[in-house]
Amino acid sequence: MNIIPAENYNDLSQKAAKFIIEFVQSKPDAVLGLATGGTPEGTYKYMVEDFNHNKTSYQNVRTVNLDEYVGLPVENPNSYHAYMYNHLFKHIDVPEGGCHIPNGMAEDLDAECKRYDQLISSLGGVDLQLLGIGHNGHIGFNEPGTSFEKRTHTVELTRTTRRANARYFDSLDEVPTHALTMGIKAIMESRQILLIASGKDKAEAMRRLIKEENISEDFPASSLQAHSHVTIIADREALSLAY
Ligand code: F6R
Repeated sequence: MNIIPAENYNDLSQKAAKFIIEFVQSKPDAVLGLATGGTPEGTYKYMVEDFNHNKTSYQNVRTVNLDEYVGLPVENPNSYHAYMYNHLFKHIDVPEGGCHIPNGMAEDLDAECKRYDQLISSLGGVDLQLLGIGHNGHIGFNEPGTSFEKRTHTVELTRTTRRANARYFDSLDEVPTHALTMGIKAIMESRQILLIASGKDKAEAMRRLIKEENISEDFPASSLQAHSHVTIIADREALSLAY
């Protein structure tokens, strides 16, 4: 794992945006795997800023998002559809038809998971997957205990994850209990992975990821230790227990 330290959240966001922008410039038809949550907001902000100033084009890029809540309509501001549209898609020239997010409103969720897996393989797989990390080591919404052999599947969110995400909702009760997520198997098939982490509350997860060598389904991010092309960009606080 290649670790790029950053001073703080802003520095991390600039470095992560630069990494993705250079990737797209070298492969203008890249398939980007994208994440939501608090951490990538700054990264997307700097990608938008670069688009406005330097016109890095996303016209031939296709995107696949990691996950989506079950039962939130796309118009709900807390849906990951709304998040991606508001933070990135509406600001750059990526074609709408090229942006893919699991449909958490599908009537048949198993069929939706299969459709999403087929879609990813029809795109030729993911070239660069952006990841955040949960306090419990989840990546995507693959919670501890999830089999590393799973592709897109429905998950029941843990209370810790629902509590962490409750900051965006009016109350914990409103946070959906389930989500669709790309599985570890699909994440591991990405040709490159970029994981970003910021803040003290991610320090213990980063310590386990970087310092503990055992790969275990109890700590989903540990799967990344078996991937040959992972870059981590994390700020000083997030790395504070890792050295
Ligand atoms: C979101 C996702 C999650 C988040 C993780 C960290 O698409 O896949 O794994 O990356 O929950 O979230 P933040 O960045 O809000 O701390």
